[in-house]
Amino acid sequence: MASSTSPASAPAAVLCALLALAAALGARAGPLSPAYYEESCPHVYDTVRRVIQEARVGDPRIPASLIRLHFHDCFVNGCDGSLLLDDAGAMQSEKNALPNRGSARGFEVVDGIKAALESACPGVVSCADILALAAEISVELSGGPNWNVFLGRRDGMTANFDGANNLPAPTDDLDLLRQKFSDFNLDDTDFVALQGAHTIGRAQCRLFHDRLYNFSGSMQPDQTMDLAYLSELRQSCPASDSESTALSNLDPPTPDAFDNSYYGNILCNRGLLQSDQGMLSAPGGAAAPTAPIVGRFAASQADFFQSFATAMVKMGNIAPLTGSMGEIRRNCRVVNWG
Ligand code: HEM
Ligand SMILES: *[C@@H]1O[C@H](CO)[C@@H](O)[C@H](O)[C@H]1NC(C)=O
Repeated sequence: MASSTSPASAPAAVLCALLALAAALGARAGPLSPAYYEESCPHVYDTVRRVIQEARVGDPRIPASLIRLHFHDCFVNGCDGSLLLDDAGAMQSEKNALPNRGSARGFEVVDGIKAALESACPGVVSCADILALAAEISVELSGGPNWNVFLGRRDGMTANFDGANNLPAPTDDLDLLRQKFSDFNLDDTDFVALQGAHTIGRAQCRLFHDRLYNFSGSMQPDQTMDLAYLSELRQSCPASDSESTALSNLDPPTPDAFDNSYYGNILCNRGLLQSDQGMLSAPGGAAAPTAPIVGRFAASQADFFQSFATAMVKMGNIAPLTGSMGEIRRNCRVVNWG
């Protein structure tokens, strides 16, 4: 008996060891997979890409706006598409929270992507995955790196208005911002790399007005800001209107190209938001702990691209809903019926 079981159990033991290894590796990579829709919606990538290509013809800012949506989704309740839900009954939309209201944009493009996917493969692709794919494609279309997008997230059934109000703010100090990222296991390299998304897109005057005229209630501009840049910004962002929605480019040298010039700006004290410049210099002139990473990315676009891609995959892995959790929304703005 013993001799007849042992030849069979030897390969079984090897098989079990392999399965355990695969499970361990799988657990480390998370439950998401780049091949998730290979059978169920083989053209998902091309479909998302086509809709974004069409949208950005009329609005070159769209790629930037879409990247930001993925960030604001993942940092609130995980990457579950909760940001996309509109107000409904007792549910308060995240879209109306302070960091998003009058600011987060691109929702119509997400609707367009969802509609195209519902006609190609109904009920299959989640809104949360659409945001992850749209972010990668937007970076790539803007000249940035590409990476394998992990897929298989499902959509949440609730919005978290208070959570959205706690998103990183441009007026948060460096330590608070680092804390908000490390809460999601994103280290300083991830933190500095992810803010490099500000290499494209725009920001409204009201979000940096204090830096130009009345920094920390001092009635003086932010002393860290380059003077020529200060006077440039004042031309489109007037003292008289601290609520102005006039736009400035986050990366003036190459406003719509995904490159590393954002970090070069910061080295020249030409970061637009307090949170951008704060990665280099702490108030009082002390060097910030993140300063060496800013220098490294300014010196090497390849380093920045690699770290950005790694950090985007990590951010996309924040608390996804998988298995039987959540649902696949049919319309990204509302939870399904029943
Ligand atoms: C320290 C953390 C961050 C802060 C405080 C911050 C803050 C801001 C602010 C205030 C704006 C301007 C919004 C407006 O004027 O309406 C903005 C725009 C933008 N943010 Fe961030 N952000 C942060 C991190 C990130 C991350 C991690 C990403 C993506 C990976 C990102 C992507 C963008 C993009 C692409 C835009 C331009 C959007 C557009 O033109 O529509 N940001 N951010
Ligand atoms: C300057 O900022 C302080 C504090 O933020 C505020 O109380 C004050 O009203 C501001 N002054 C002007 C002229 O905007």
